[in-house]
Amino acid sequence: MKESHFLNQVVRSLLAGQLKAAADPHRPRWHLAAPVGLLNDPNGFIEHDGRYHLFYQWNPLGCEHRNKGWGHVSSTDLLHWQHEPVALLPTEAYESHGCYSGSAVSDEQGRLTLIYTGNVKYPDGSRTAYQCLARADGEGGFAKLGSVLDLPQGYSGHVRDPKVWHDGQQWLMVLGARTLDDKGEVLLYRGDALDAWTLVGPIAGSGRCGLGEFGYMWECPDLFALGECHVLISCPQGIAPMGEDYRNLYQCGWLAGSFDGTHFAHGAFHELDRGFEFYAPQTTQDSQGRRLLFGWLGLPEENEMSQPTIPYGWIHQMSCPRELFWQDEWLCQRPVAELEALKGEQTRFEGTLGEFPGLAIDSAWLDLDLCGEGSLWFGAVAELVWQPGRINLRRQNWQSGEWETRSSPWAGGRITVLCDRSSLECFIDEGRQSLSARYFPGEKPQLSSGNGDDGCKICLDYWPLAA
Ligand code: FRU
Repeated sequence: MKESHFLNQVVRSLLAGQLKAAADPHRPRWHLAAPVGLLNDPNGFIEHDGRYHLFYQWNPLGCEHRNKGWGHVSSTDLLHWQHEPVALLPTEAYESHGCYSGSAVSDEQGRLTLIYTGNVKYPDGSRTAYQCLARADGEGGFAKLGSVLDLPQGYSGHVRDPKVWHDGQQWLMVLGARTLDDKGEVLLYRGDALDAWTLVGPIAGSGRCGLGEFGYMWECPDLFALGECHVLISCPQGIAPMGEDYRNLYQCGWLAGSFDGTHFAHGAFHELDRGFEFYAPQTTQDSQGRRLLFGWLGLPEENEMSQPTIPYGWIHQMSCPRELFWQDEWLCQRPVAELEALKGEQTRFEGTLGEFPGLAIDSAWLDLDLCGEGSLWFGAVAELVWQPGRINLRRQNWQSGEWETRSSPWAGGRITVLCDRSSLECFIDEGRQSLSARYFPGEKPQLSSGNGDDGCKICLDYWPLAA
């Protein structure tokens, strides 16, 4: 589609749809969501010239996975975001079926530069992919510089989601890939410039990469140093559920190890978030040295068809901004400290589960100290259930009406729940595990006690959150 025609359609979609989307009772109070249309992966997360920039996969014209470009917001505090001009729209032949996910860097001249996947699909069902550059044009937009990397030999058309960084000497890039015999891999490239890349090889994945049979495709890789170790986050597709693990259609997890610039020696794969909706996260290191992360509170192809927000013309949201840290050799996550500023007046309840009078919850921060066995209801559609050793998050599926559960180990430590009008993010044992989910409780939901040991003592601190 011609750029001017596309832009016209985006403007029309925004003018016609923005007020309707904002009037949805399930619209987040402070989480990021697209003004209209479909949002998926966080892209290009970076602190540049004193502002945080976050881009996101965006279909500005509807709630389906089509017309993918990059939306753009910026902020000084990770919470109050300013909309910026749309960064990328799929207008060129090398990106005809989407400007897919990627990352952002400050280039050698300090210019904000995007590297993303141009996705091209053919009528026979096959596809190809190009890794492409775009550079800030000084007027809030981005000028496309075209493709800088074709498909490597031996790989299918599924090679995408470049995450690029500089190691002080050279540029490095990891790419998600699917081999011709359907093994998911993460490919490493090196470059002397952002448009001159050389393949080093696969550094993790399925098959020959050391994890055995572990998925046919790995999406959205992100490799970074944290403390003494390196972490690779990625999203393997095609892993069957095993007990309480891998319950979603696609997984998102981390590997920890040591990266010597060429090889990544790593341990086992662990899920990054054990909830229903969490995918394609992206991290950046900010000027305070923190490793920050946003994830998409959604999953491709799962629970999307009938989300109750679709009649309001929008779908999906981001997670809260999270900080990654190590605790006892385990990768942990906590909401960023900036979130404290959204807290209103504190309410504390200390007593037995049976005495809990309930609370109206809209958008809130809850700290829970729990013991014994019991549960708390969030509206009538989600329940947090605790028992020695385990936390379960149950919810009623809005599509099928069935109850479904995601589960996490629990060492008995504090649980923090951030809830917004249609999302729950539970941080268990001070962030050792997280369980995230969308939920659609309707208007004026109550937090109330559920089944359990009535005599079990609970301590609940509650703060309303408002941006
Ligand atoms: C992950 C993903 C990426 C791709 C993008 C397209 O959710 O499938 O691999 O680049 O979404 O929107």
